[in-house]
Amino acid sequence: MNTQYNSKARWNANLYESKHSFVWQYGTDLINLLSPQKGEKILDLGCGTGQLTDKIAATGADIVGIDRSPAMIAKAKENYPKIQFIVADGAHFSFPEKFDAIFSNAALHWIKPPEAAIACIGQALKSEGRFIAEFGGKGNVEQIIAAIDIALNKSGYQLQSELNPWYFPSIGEYTILLERQGFEVTYATLVARPTKLNGGEMGLRNWLEMFASSLLSIVSPSTKVDIMTEIEKQLKSILYRDGSWVADYKRIRVIATKKITSQ
Ligand code: BEZ
Repeated sequence: MNTQYNSKARWNANLYESKHSFVWQYGTDLINLLSPQKGEKILDLGCGTGQLTDKIAATGADIVGIDRSPAMIAKAKENYPKIQFIVADGAHFSFPEKFDAIFSNAALHWIKPPEAAIACIGQALKSEGRFIAEFGGKGNVEQIIAAIDIALNKSGYQLQSELNPWYFPSIGEYTILLERQGFEVTYATLVARPTKLNGGEMGLRNWLEMFASSLLSIVSPSTKVDIMTEIEKQLKSILYRDGSWVADYKRIRVIATKKITSQ
């Protein structure tokens, strides 16, 4: 992950690396779909702390990683000093040179509006360039969001849609956005991928702290503790198995080719 983050989110790169390593471990498989070739110019959009960028670099590709979080980029540079990492917003970036491929794992659900991200991707790709991405799709973390809603209500708060940092599109919705901007979509899937969270009993709380802080930003720190306890209570029988929390992730995967030169 790779995180283009909403302005409300505050990323802690050390926490991300130590407690949320599943984010890039799952992404390794996506590199097979990218099929990077030696010497190709590739952009890793939302590179987080750089683990997948490094794997792509190891294939001999000429890779650049971007992420909106300065903390993530600082950590990525510390981890992999030979790779170029740049702080850049996924909805407002541009490069003087064009890329053969753009790769993005677990980042695009943080980037709004999606049309702006797609416009930047289109402009940064060569004609016939490849776009390979995986991110949260329609129905992603639906049960977690429902439990947050119930827990907020029980404490007298409402879930506020303007604080929702995520964009989880259906395949239909996202492929139309790509086609409108001159891409040919050759592959798209939406699959449930229940994801075991690190940290045993603390896994859901860690996840909420790292990723759902904007939704809980309206409550005081002490109420937040009560709300997290209520969220755990709501979800225990559904998402807690054999000593671990399992998040109800749904992933959209797309492969598209840029066909039309953007303006
Ligand atoms: C995801 O990777 O699907 C995700 C991560 C954090 C918050 C929401 C979704």
